[in-house]
Amino acid sequence: MSAIPESAPRKVFLETYGCQMNVADSELVGGVLHRHGYLRTQDPAQADVLLLNTCAIREHAEERVLGRLSELLQYKHARPSVQLGLLGCMASHLREHLLDRAPYLDVIVGPDGYRDLPSLLADGVDPRVDVRLDRDETYSDLTPDHGPGPRAWLTVMRGCDKFCTFCVVPFTRGRERSLPPDAVVAQVEAAVAAGKREVVFLGQTVNAYRADGVDFGGLLRRAAAVDGLDRIRFTSPHPSEVSDAMIAALADEPKVMPYLHLPLQSASDPVLEAMARDYTIAQYRALLGRVRDAVPGIAVSTDIIVGFPGETEEDFRATADFLEEARYDFAYQFKYSPREGTRAYKIPDTVSEAEKGRRLRQLIERQEEISLEVNQSQVGREVEVMVEGPARRPPDHVVGKTQSFKTTVFRDVGAKPGERVRVRVDSAGAHTLRATPV
Ligand code: 5AD
Ligand code: SF4
Repeated sequence: MSAIPESAPRKVFLETYGCQMNVADSELVGGVLHRHGYLRTQDPAQADVLLLNTCAIREHAEERVLGRLSELLQYKHARPSVQLGLLGCMASHLREHLLDRAPYLDVIVGPDGYRDLPSLLADGVDPRVDVRLDRDETYSDLTPDHGPGPRAWLTVMRGCDKFCTFCVVPFTRGRERSLPPDAVVAQVEAAVAAGKREVVFLGQTVNAYRADGVDFGGLLRRAAAVDGLDRIRFTSPHPSEVSDAMIAALADEPKVMPYLHLPLQSASDPVLEAMARDYTIAQYRALLGRVRDAVPGIAVSTDIIVGFPGETEEDFRATADFLEEARYDFAYQFKYSPREGTRAYKIPDTVSEAEKGRRLRQLIERQEEISLEVNQSQVGREVEVMVEGPARRPPDHVVGKTQSFKTTVFRDVGAKPGERVRVRVDSAGAHTLRATPV
């Protein structure tokens, strides 16, 4: 199949919404289109193909994309040959219903259809919809076009079999499947050969990884053996899939960084049960304790949803109290958003928007204070930062991440992206550390 145009190369504008999996998928799509002769452009006015890689996790995410689509429509009005496409989770969530909202879409492609995107774009029939989910598609043979900087995002498993009752992902991304470990190692080696120094393994439940007899702990060990790779991270693990082997890799493999995202969602057992989260708060607490005992000083972040149907004031208090107890480094907090197709969608949404807002604000405010306190406890310590590039401000400063994934800004002493610099922490905000090279 040859989709390479005879005349000038076609230009593609690709914008990404949502999680890191989507960022990685866009790099995959970038690689696929690149190999078919497309050039990338950052300017939608220059593009022959405009693609949005979308997120369906909350209604707000979908509304943003629909707004953006109607903005991009101007380029199609200006030049009718321009193709407008929607990729990702919204494609599989809304399917052909998208055409009710955006009838001008030329292509609609779900997360398992990217391999055929060039032929869909070359095909004359309008609109082209491919939202089939594929139990086997892992794209393990395709090379992504990684973005700039020393970090490479690598998808090691796709899909989710957990079916938390609030979540649309098992429907938009389909069943769990893992890339063969040899393919993952080959991608790590390719990233290192391209100048990357850090990899982040991605998967919706990344620690459910299993392929060819290798589990997630084993995969971390395999990656750590790659020469030239300095740092390994991963996101997002599921609490009920955390194994001793994973904790051991965090504890004793120097390349596996001391940072864990451990989504809580709620600290009330009745809510956890209604969410089908597979753990009680006592089990989660014990797990967090085990991780912190094994990896002293490990940074931990979480996800929380407020206002799940049936969440009482008492349930909410349990979550607020658990924030005090857990002292997370950081928390991503959300108002519950009903998603069509999920089991929770059928439960009446009992918490008003205003009350959800109040609960959310209260947790965010408190977590900001905790994050600040946790970060301030780093002041005076020496830490290692991997440089990413120039800081936005102040001038002549660079920015990078500590081993525990804290954004750190310090004076430019000539370190290149990917280099690791030892610094002393001078001051700390809730989201950023300021430091001096030692
Ligand atoms: N409403 C609000 N938040 C949600 N999340 C997933 N589905 C929903 C929903 N319907 C949150 C969860 C998950 C994170 C990625 O997004 O906290 O861990
Ligand atoms: Fe959604 Fe739950 Fe799967 Fe995470 S584990 S993607 S929250 S269903």
